[in-house]
Amino acid sequence: MNVAIIGTGYVGLTTGVCLAYLGHRVTCVDSDPRKVDALRCGQVPFFEPHLTELLAEAKSNLNYTIDYAQAIPTAEVVFIAVGTPPGQGGAPDLKYLESAARSIGENLGQHFTVIVNKSTVPIGSGNWVGSLVRTQSNGASFAVASNPEFLREGSALLDSLYPDRVVIGAEDARTSEVLYSLYRPVLEQSFAAPVFLPRPDGVAAAPLISTDLASAELIKYAANAFLSLKISYINEIGNLAEKVGADIRQVAKGIGLDRRIGGRFLQAGVGWGGSCFGKDTAALVATASEYGLDMPIVKAAREVNKKQRDRVVEKLLDELKILKGRTIGLLGLAFKPNTDDLRDAPAIDIAQRLIERGAHVRAHDPIAMSRFREENPNLRVTLTAAAEETAIDADALVLVTEWDSYQELDWEGVARKMRSAILVDGRNLLDRERLTQSGFRYVSLAG
Ligand code: UDX
Repeated sequence: MNVAIIGTGYVGLTTGVCLAYLGHRVTCVDSDPRKVDALRCGQVPFFEPHLTELLAEAKSNLNYTIDYAQAIPTAEVVFIAVGTPPGQGGAPDLKYLESAARSIGENLGQHFTVIVNKSTVPIGSGNWVGSLVRTQSNGASFAVASNPEFLREGSALLDSLYPDRVVIGAEDARTSEVLYSLYRPVLEQSFAAPVFLPRPDGVAAAPLISTDLASAELIKYAANAFLSLKISYINEIGNLAEKVGADIRQVAKGIGLDRRIGGRFLQAGVGWGGSCFGKDTAALVATASEYGLDMPIVKAAREVNKKQRDRVVEKLLDELKILKGRTIGLLGLAFKPNTDDLRDAPAIDIAQRLIERGAHVRAHDPIAMSRFREENPNLRVTLTAAAEETAIDADALVLVTEWDSYQELDWEGVARKMRSAILVDGRNLLDRERLTQSGFRYVSLAG
């Protein structure tokens, strides 16, 4: 099928590349000509494992342009995957969505086109996009659908090719059928897996949820909010575990093996960051309040998450008493491993709080440092080329992002470089005994 994708961020580009790999002809539209030029040369504007390789493999089915007129008239399906950054009062800012909808309307072809909201958009946006397109479209035949995206950064391609489910929200059967045909290779798992992204064991088909627009839109928010509160729940239990002398890792394992609970998203630590959980939980609370509804559980999850970042500073204060003039090393800046994304990254908040208290902050990240410098030119953090260098004469280290490479550090050597060998493990990642044997005072964030 002919597909147009508006927006080449994480969601748009991943979707475009995967659909092209599956055999569809995809044109990606982005307003930034530099991004388009780079993509034409095979360069991906952010770090995502295997995306460059898959893009190269699907090259013959991919085009890039800044011009809607080159993509929309021939497209049978148009995905809107533009940014919806946080706006005022918790509701997302929809200016990019609005402008995309109008431009799509101006360029629709003569045939029936399905316009798909792929960005996380407030409930009711399907109708709103439809009305915007209609005002520009001169009677062209189209329908709006919702197809929320559940990909995680760092494993975006695996999540897209082998999803737990595909959700399609539409108001009529014709629209759902178009999207069913588009996703058939994924739903039936009938495509040949890329060698570098083999099909996981046991994946034979992906379930389809075919529903109405509002339900599809709410599924996305409800899923992200649930995952957020799962993390906040384990963090709250972790704080109690610490008081009573329990080990939160064992507690998480013990409850996670109950299939009704499930073991994933029960990793206690500094809490969630990233572009979705904070924004989506805020948007859910804002939408509910428009209907006069309170969402105390979601609000509490947000509150607990905020406090986890304070707890890192509290732990350092407990250990060092005074932070003024101390040197603290941060291991990890990205909001999670395998990405260079720094949106709502706990490390940035923690660095700010330490600097406000007069500490010197050093930091390392395997891939996010140049982006960190670009996006935070005024934050007085010294970046170090190697992880070990954050430790030189430092009073404490904080592990903020659980990169694999930090597990492999020569911890004895690291301890020797420090003024006082204290390690706050913000992800409960490292082995307490091993760290203690290496000369560290090991402080976990919970339990
Ligand atoms: C999330 C959703 O998982 C995805 O379905 C949606 O489409 C976009 O938002 P993402 O933000 O890329 O994806 O990352 P995710 O792996 O969900 O992690 C989010 C945050 O939660 C990270 O900061 C991570 O470190 C944290 N986290 C995750 C925990 O603190 N504990 C856990 O057990 C799991």
